[in-house]
Amino acid sequence: MAANYDNSAWFYDRLSRLVYGKALVKSQVYLLKHIPENSGILIAGGGTGWILEEIAKVHPSGLTITYAEISSNMMALSKKRKIGDNKVIFINEPVENIEENRLYDIVFTPFLFDNFTEKTLLNVFSHLHKRLKPGGMWLNTDFRLTGKWWQSFLLKSMIVFFRLICRIEAKKLPDIERQFEQHQYEVIDQKSFFGEFILSTAYQKTGL
Ligand SMILES: C[S@@+](CC[C@H](N)C(=O)[O-])C[C@H]1O[C@@H](n2cnc3c(N)ncnc32)[C@H](O)[C@@H]1O
Repeated sequence: MAANYDNSAWFYDRLSRLVYGKALVKSQVYLLKHIPENSGILIAGGGTGWILEEIAKVHPSGLTITYAEISSNMMALSKKRKIGDNKVIFINEPVENIEENRLYDIVFTPFLFDNFTEKTLLNVFSHLHKRLKPGGMWLNTDFRLTGKWWQSFLLKSMIVFFRLICRIEAKKLPDIERQFEQHQYEVIDQKSFFGEFILSTAYQKTGL
């Protein structure tokens, strides 16, 4: 059965802020400066949708945002967000199931890939890769392990918790950075948060 964050929608933000303080928010807000005016954005796995409000603070209008979220409960919360005068197309489906020919200036994947096995990562990554314009920017934030014991401990605890509550499929962190390397992305900007456990990267698509 596919992972579903429905069960955690009502407490997800509170729990994540209890554990990580403002780091999860800061790590994503850090990347918003790479969004150009009047651009087209694809957000995959936006959770409760607070990122839409943060985006509206930077760009109150002019953006067209496709917001794909698999969980209906997360989607319901997202639809209540203040989006300014930006246009948001809400799609309550796995992002890899969206069939369209549209190309985006920006793809945004905030803590999406840590849910996945290597196989799902590859599948979802290839789908998103095809939707990004050549020269476009892919903004990615996720956990990574830099060898500190507490990182492995926290990651294991999260995986056990979310496997139980939301049936996520991951048993370990997939190799996210390798996908970007293999698909010819160039790192334009990068910053780590929460003792290097969180990595935010703005990648530029250099190939086709
Ligand atoms: C770990 S949460 C992160 C939520 C949010 N980005 C945040 O940082 O607060 C991952 C989110 O991705 C969604 N998700 C998982 N797989 C997805 C997929 N294939 N397509 C779209 N959304 C997905 C889940 O429902 C969940 O809301």
